[in-house]
Amino acid sequence: MAAALKIDRFNLLPDEDCDARIVAAKKILGKRLAVLGHHYQRDEVFKHADFSGDSLKLSQMAANSDAEHIVFCGVHFMAEVADILTFGERNVILPDLAAGCSMADMANLVKVRKCWNELSEVLDPDQKVTPVTYINSAADLKAFCGSHGGIVCTSSNARGVLEWSFSRREKVLFFPDQHLGRNTGHRMGIPLEEMVLWDFTKPMGGLKPDEIRKAKIILWKGFCSVHQMFHPNHIVKFRRDVPDGKVISHPENDFEVCENSDYVGSTEYILRTVRASPAGTHWLVGTELNLVNRLRDEMKPKGVTVQFMSPMVCMCSTMFRTDPQHLAWTLDNLVTGQVVNRIQVPQEIADPARAALDLMLEVVD
Ligand code: 13P
Ligand code: SF4
Repeated sequence: MAAALKIDRFNLLPDEDCDARIVAAKKILGKRLAVLGHHYQRDEVFKHADFSGDSLKLSQMAANSDAEHIVFCGVHFMAEVADILTFGERNVILPDLAAGCSMADMANLVKVRKCWNELSEVLDPDQKVTPVTYINSAADLKAFCGSHGGIVCTSSNARGVLEWSFSRREKVLFFPDQHLGRNTGHRMGIPLEEMVLWDFTKPMGGLKPDEIRKAKIILWKGFCSVHQMFHPNHIVKFRRDVPDGKVISHPENDFEVCENSDYVGSTEYILRTVRASPAGTHWLVGTELNLVNRLRDEMKPKGVTVQFMSPMVCMCSTMFRTDPQHLAWTLDNLVTGQVVNRIQVPQEIADPARAALDLMLEVVD
């Protein structure tokens, strides 16, 4: 078999040349290949996706795909989920291995185990606390949830997952995104003072035993750096300028942004809602720039205006790592029978992680 082609040969190829190679490789690979693209991918990559979606939709697509090769234009945790849900039987490929998620990196197994041990000084976590991990997390954290009666959630099913969790145990430990946990809890009617913040840099999360005993949700102190760029004053200004405008935000935004928005939901929800709006509607959208720019261009001819929430340019820099050069490199290798950048989750992690993912897919279907 030929040796794998090296990325160096592709790094300096112009985008147009990469496009031609990608199109040709897709034609040769046919149904043996599925290219999945998250909504935050840049246009140059997104246009090559066979399927696009939010994290939930993409995991379902991966689980139901019978393609031999799944090339995931997204970030590392998404490719891990695809590998877990396909039982390691497909070649799941992440074109650039450096495409991680800074929020997912804010929690790790050592810190979560330490938290669980510290909680056990105050209560019996295996009886009283459901661990819930946002899908934006490493596979071993999903496995931790699977092994401790817990579950995974995405931005589109967090409420259903929390309802399921509270029907089993009285408290939830929610990681790594404090905002998704708080925004969802608040919409379910849980008072803010019953949602405490676990600062993983401090002993006992910086909390007193009594605060832990009274809490309904213990929120990990993680956040998305992209969504940190949106502020309530952006909404105030928009409402002043466009009094009949609508505001829609992703639940990774902080509490005040979500509270001041008319609609809050996943990337797929944002697209669906704006696409369904009548001509003459004006939107302010609080999520990643590539999605918003594409939506703006799509809706303009329909008479719907779409504006990005922040005056700053803010993209997900890790999503941005997947470029046409890496995609062309990956696909050219597949054509020559070489699988590069395969994501494989070890079975001892994949099995309990799958248990937590399967529960999520069952609970909120
Ligand atoms: P969605 O599941 O709403 O697409 O969000 C995924 C995500 O966090 C990417 O940041
Ligand atoms: Fe992670 Fe935020 Fe990028 Fe989503 S937008 S992948 S949460 S860093």
